[in-house]
Amino acid sequence: MQEDKQRWNEKYLVAPMPKETSEILVENIFLALKGRALDIACGMGRNTHYLADSGFEVDAVDLSDYALEQVKDAKNITKIDADLDTYVFEEDIYTLILKVNYLDRKMFPKIIKALKKEGLFICETFVKTPTSQGYHNPTNPDFHLDLDELPKAFSSLEIISYEEKDAINLRGEKVRIASFVGKKI
Ligand SMILES: C[S@@+](CC[C@H](N)C(=O)[O-])C[C@H]1O[C@@H](n2cnc3c(N)ncnc32)[C@H](O)[C@@H]1O
Repeated sequence: MQEDKQRWNEKYLVAPMPKETSEILVENIFLALKGRALDIACGMGRNTHYLADSGFEVDAVDLSDYALEQVKDAKNITKIDADLDTYVFEEDIYTLILKVNYLDRKMFPKIIKALKKEGLFICETFVKTPTSQGYHNPTNPDFHLDLDELPKAFSSLEIISYEEKDAINLRGEKVRIASFVGKKI
């Protein structure tokens, strides 16, 4: 945990992170009932801020204290400095859970339990690709989804949308991302 914290703190100091709200959140937020939202691995809060400004009570979890310091202090934002490997999710309380550019498969069942009925899950992160086609893949394959992995892992949700598409990462490399929106029924 301490090593990861330090690694991420250093990463934030040397590498820029996007500041714009994720499009997938802007496009789908209207599908969520107002209530408590969870921003998993919230980083510097680009999406946390949008959720809070849209009237949600937001739990923003990250292990980088540098990143959490950049999340604004607001009465409807609870900053949680925690390692998601061991973080215990409250069950049946969130009307919206967001997970962008972060992957930990062990968390999938916890996400489903943490959603309230009708709760929305929005997820966008990288998908494995053949390097032969000029895509960048991470050194650690655990951080990339398999093709069609999200619809399978979250098949108990009503799938509202799913797509895999090309994108460009912050270093200008071609990557592929999966975008998933589902609702607990
Ligand atoms: C690529 S950033 C994405 C941040 C944010 N979701 C966004 O889209 O701007 C990944 C984030 O995951 C956090 N992170 C990585 N491992 C973590 C862990 N085990 N527990 C909590 N946060 C973690 C990092 O500190 C970093 O802020």
